[in-house]
Amino acid sequence: MVKNFPLEQSNPERPVISVYPDAKAASVDVAQRIASLIRAKQRDNKQIVLGLATGSTPIYVYEELVRLHREEELSFNNVISFNLDEYFPMQPDSSQSYVAFMKKYLFDHIDIKPENVHIPDGTLARAEIEAYCSAYENKIKAVGGIDIQLLGIGRTGHIGFNEPGATRFSKTRLVELNDLTRTDAAPAFGSKEYVPTEAITMGIDTIMAARKILLMAWGRGKAEIVQKTMETEVTATIPATFLKTCEQVEFVLDNEAASLLTGLEA
Ligand code: PGA
Repeated sequence: MVKNFPLEQSNPERPVISVYPDAKAASVDVAQRIASLIRAKQRDNKQIVLGLATGSTPIYVYEELVRLHREEELSFNNVISFNLDEYFPMQPDSSQSYVAFMKKYLFDHIDIKPENVHIPDGTLARAEIEAYCSAYENKIKAVGGIDIQLLGIGRTGHIGFNEPGATRFSKTRLVELNDLTRTDAAPAFGSKEYVPTEAITMGIDTIMAARKILLMAWGRGKAEIVQKTMETEVTATIPATFLKTCEQVEFVLDNEAASLLTGLEA
């Protein structure tokens, strides 16, 4: 099922693209791969550090991880997690917060230790943000870096909330949200005017330091940005293109998200 995409422009490594019949099949496979690494680390008495994403894309992955916990005794007691981003400002008990999202889809249903969970804090005073973000980076480093980073992709080409213009060496920081991103988030907030204009996000550099990166995209609605990401040279106007310079990245797509790619080789 893994297909290589022969990208000539700027990518000596040729990113691996895995194409699955549908999002569910892809998500089950991603979850199983995460579970295997969690178990392998448990056998060695080691912790594993997961970089986690929110949005509609990872929901089936989390569902499968919860199933593995309930039905196949997968424990998360050695898991440390860092979420990619959070709206700013945002109260953790608000239903739109990524804290609420993570609880609803994953953390409330597994045995991860609460002290091992990290999600950027949307309640900070503005003056505290810079120091908080650099402490977030330091915490990731202090636990040995991220083993597996899950990513979705926005229609702007953002990863995390690194919108067009984000630089390759950006770190965790406060950013402004792109207009299209706010349009896409409007249903969750009732209306676009209620979508925050800012967020705290890991940077491109933070993400690219992970030892394995799985960028997932499902559905026809992502086909254009997936095609642009693959077929445009590496550029800050499509932040996801930076990933093409990383050999540890894998693009995990369903057939619909891959439908505009040309030149996929079986
Ligand atoms: P989605 O968002 O998973 O809700 O499509 C992805 C993203 O914006 O990164």
